[in-house]
Amino acid sequence: MDNKVRIFDTTLRDGEQSPGASMNVEEKIIVAKQLAKLGVDVIEAGFAYSSPGDFDSVKRIAHEVEGPIICSLARAKPEDVDAAGKALEGAPKTRIHTFISTSDIHLKHQFRLTRQEALKRAVEMVERARGYVADVEFSAMDASRTEPAYLYEMLEAVINAGATTLNIPDTVGYALPDSFGALIRGIRENVKNIDKAVISVHCHNDLGLAVANSLAAIVNGARQIECTINGIGERAGNASLEEIVMILKTRKDLLGLETSIVSEQIFPSSRLVSSITGIMVQPNKAIVGDNAFAHESGIHQDGLLKDKSTYEIMRPESIGISRSTLVLGKHSGRHAFKERLKELGYDITGESLDKAFERFKIVADKKKEVFDEDIEAIVQDEVLRIEVPDRYKLIRLNVQSGTDTPPIAEVEMEVNGTVVKDTGKGDGPVDAAYNTIAKMTNTKSKLLKYIVNAITGGTDAQGEVSVRVQEGEQIVLGQGSHTDIIIASAKAYINALNRLEYKKKDRKENLVL
Ligand code: KIV
Ligand code: ZN
Repeated sequence: MDNKVRIFDTTLRDGEQSPGASMNVEEKIIVAKQLAKLGVDVIEAGFAYSSPGDFDSVKRIAHEVEGPIICSLARAKPEDVDAAGKALEGAPKTRIHTFISTSDIHLKHQFRLTRQEALKRAVEMVERARGYVADVEFSAMDASRTEPAYLYEMLEAVINAGATTLNIPDTVGYALPDSFGALIRGIRENVKNIDKAVISVHCHNDLGLAVANSLAAIVNGARQIECTINGIGERAGNASLEEIVMILKTRKDLLGLETSIVSEQIFPSSRLVSSITGIMVQPNKAIVGDNAFAHESGIHQDGLLKDKSTYEIMRPESIGISRSTLVLGKHSGRHAFKERLKELGYDITGESLDKAFERFKIVADKKKEVFDEDIEAIVQDEVLRIEVPDRYKLIRLNVQSGTDTPPIAEVEMEVNGTVVKDTGKGDGPVDAAYNTIAKMTNTKSKLLKYIVNAITGGTDAQGEVSVRVQEGEQIVLGQGSHTDIIIASAKAYINALNRLEYKKKDRKENLVL
């Protein structure tokens, strides 16, 4: 067996299934380009059949992102496989990933299929996918709760039909490392033609075991791991890419395995995904959390000063955390700004760079030092937002508030190209601004969450506001940053309302299996 573990990144598909994490096409392309830089082997770019936006994302990523294999998910249904095939048509390195459940629980209660009917459908859809691409992955959904003998039969049949990767998902995060490892060993020992395919696993984190289960699978012969940046994904998420990769790298002495990941790109990738999706990384998260390399105890600090190996099993530099204290300021030029953007994972040129640089100069004039977090907020605001058409635009906002003044907001906005003005009251300045904007846009949405963060220290810090807004089934995230926190709040809310409008147009089909 070879010693290379392939990294299949599903941040743009399963990761995007995290509530509120949906990304627009431009954002997905930025993430996909960073994943290519990170060196992943496969990018699952979306689920082509599910919506026109996903179809477009798969198609554009397949044509515009060089390096990794680009994959589309497809249920074991002709219309899904055809959509995946069409989205990938003409692109250089492509894969169709088709799936059907194999557990009796799913077959009986959800699919209403017999085992033999499911097997026939899986075989037919793998054959159909092979009509489009040479690289076909098959997933036996809920494999960890499937009777092993039936799973072996299914896997043997789909390999004969042309599947080249067999994915064994722990769909509901139910497996334990020993039994999951034994399942992979069982597949290697009992599926006759297994040498013709790569075994992959896809573990969910419901019991916090996604990484441990993936590792147990690797030890027992899996050579592809499906994972996401920061472990985002459906419910409690997927196995975290950075944890898997750094386990393999740090304990190569024991495991003797390799990946093609450029580990120095891990931290920039983590920051990029968190800033685009608005899903923060918990401070104590392994590898990429704020505290992952922060040593608080005096005894530890003493040891580190004497020799780093006393308490550091990985160097922060190895995942791309620079110890550089270089901070940009108002004298920094366009070149330095562009280089910093590149280090943070944003390869921005042309008009987008001009806009970001212009805004950088404004921020640098107000603050002495412009930190990485400020730059990320600028890119979010000036570059990534432009792809969501602005139905609503803030022109002016003035708020009165204080111990003796009831909060009143005066808002001027462009709504569908027409300039409108209004005033409104609230319990505080933000509430007054939000009430007025809600009235002017006639929104039926409700505000689920409002989070405000000072991006960097000091009272001159930029404030970054994230909001989560819901209308019917749709939940969207909005972000805004500004040195004035009330303006940042209004921008975040308006951004969310624009995203809601955009999402209404690209409604994903409510897919049934
Ligand atoms: O969790 C799961 O089983 C999946 C499959 C579609 C691979 O996401
Ligand atoms: Zn999944």
